[in-house]
Amino acid sequence: MYQDRILRRELIDKIVTADQAAALIKDQMVVGSSGFTKAGDSKAVLPALASRAQAKPLHITLLTGASLGHNTDAALTTSHVLSRRMPFQVDPVLRKSINAGEVMFIDHHLYETVEQLQNKHLPPVDIAVIEVTKIEEDGSLVPTTSVGNSAHFAALAQQVIVEVNLSMPLGLSGLHDIFLTGGYPERSIIPITSPSSRIGRTSIPVDPEKIVAIVITNIPDSPATVVPPDVKTTAIAEYLLDFFKNEVKQGRLKKSLLPLQAGIGKVANAVMSGFLKSDYENLTMYSEVLQDSTFELIDAGKMTYASASSITVSEEWYHRIMDNLNLYRDKVVLRPQNISNAPEVIRRMGVIGINTAIEFDIYGNVNSTHLSGTHMMNGIGGSGDFARNAFLSIFVTQAASKENAISHVVPMASHVDHTEHDVDILVTDQGLADLRGLAPRERAKVIIANCVHPDYRDELKSYYERACQRGGHTPHVLEEAFSWHSRLATTGSMKKSLTELSY
Ligand code: COA
Repeated sequence: MYQDRILRRELIDKIVTADQAAALIKDQMVVGSSGFTKAGDSKAVLPALASRAQAKPLHITLLTGASLGHNTDAALTTSHVLSRRMPFQVDPVLRKSINAGEVMFIDHHLYETVEQLQNKHLPPVDIAVIEVTKIEEDGSLVPTTSVGNSAHFAALAQQVIVEVNLSMPLGLSGLHDIFLTGGYPERSIIPITSPSSRIGRTSIPVDPEKIVAIVITNIPDSPATVVPPDVKTTAIAEYLLDFFKNEVKQGRLKKSLLPLQAGIGKVANAVMSGFLKSDYENLTMYSEVLQDSTFELIDAGKMTYASASSITVSEEWYHRIMDNLNLYRDKVVLRPQNISNAPEVIRRMGVIGINTAIEFDIYGNVNSTHLSGTHMMNGIGGSGDFARNAFLSIFVTQAASKENAISHVVPMASHVDHTEHDVDILVTDQGLADLRGLAPRERAKVIIANCVHPDYRDELKSYYERACQRGGHTPHVLEEAFSWHSRLATTGSMKKSLTELSY
């Protein structure tokens, strides 16, 4: 019943079909859409735009919170709608188009999209498309399973299209904490001192005059694919849990640790699940995405509070959470992503950031985004927002993959998202390197001894020793630094061939 959800009555007259709403989006417009890691995305208007573009081509710049669900990025790519896309994606079809140079992808720190819009470093948003649970009497918008950049898109856009999703329980009302920092030079502080701090309002303020169309939908979020822990991810989780145990023993952390952040992906999820069997208590999260493991920890009584910008869970957990929102009401909050990822807050609370690397090098520079230095995988997401400001910045990855044809520890990272200055701890299924207080030459020794797959250890050691003979603060054999990546491109493996080995 949409009548229960559009409390500002005159807006009911704005209800149109998805096709009619999509027709308001014109060629070359900048569109800001809700959606963060598949949660709370546009489920009707953007897909309708993709269909329309098949008959009548148009091109837009699309900004979101993060990735979209329901293969919407793929549909928009196939219809050639996207000329520019930011700030994050995980879609294979869009990825291919980005890497072919067809879609101009701008890989933002998730914190920064709104910054750049507010500072007018990006063109203004013409139209926002925002999924909501309901519209309040004052016209303000209650988001659904994510906040992402919606609050700012609504504030900055000239026009707003609203999707009222009837499948979202009304109980989502009250879960959000909307706080707008304002622009320079009057910007306010963000007065969050713990993950449970509530500093804003529960709905997104918007001038009702700007709402040009309302579309009614009834489609749930697409579920996250949750890969259960395997031997490697379990090993990584165990190394990390042992590390935390020792930090507590040394008095650097308490048993409640500090607020945890975990990036997307199977390794981070396995690490979080590892806490279930641990004896840590009163854990908290200050992260960008709440995944299955968050709710498992809350249900097990291990986690007392979790703050993020979206709830992105498997189908099983989605229904469990949506049907039992009262259980989580006083334990979970969803915030705009420039608040969930705010450097100021991350630093103040001493967040422990755990993110996934594609590869890292012997000095601890981390590549989170580009396969072999050139091909975009997903994007930097929030990993940089957290890594740079965290109490402890941790990166995890398997030591080797593809039947060990790829080593994820390399002589020189082929693209650097997180420099050695921002990386404290590296963990693979082979072990953990604690880099705190170490100079580059010391870091290399610890990384090679602890993190590298045995198939690559001797060669990496030899590389480092030969590099040291040439000297330098951060020694390298420059002409060889990317030889592992070149070999992967030409032979399908980073390993030396038998002929090369015999020399
Ligand atoms: N160098 C070159 N290619 C690599 C690679 C590396 N270090 N790691 C993975 N690949 C390639 C694989 O060969 C595979 O290619 P293919 O599709 O042609 O077979 C592809 O990347 C996917 O790898 P695969 O091992 O099948 O997938 P996965 O699901 O295990 O993902 C990562 C592995 C490293 C790609 C993944 O963990 C990742 O994307 N990490 C970054 C996380 C991220 O997005 N962080 C920022 C946001 S918080």
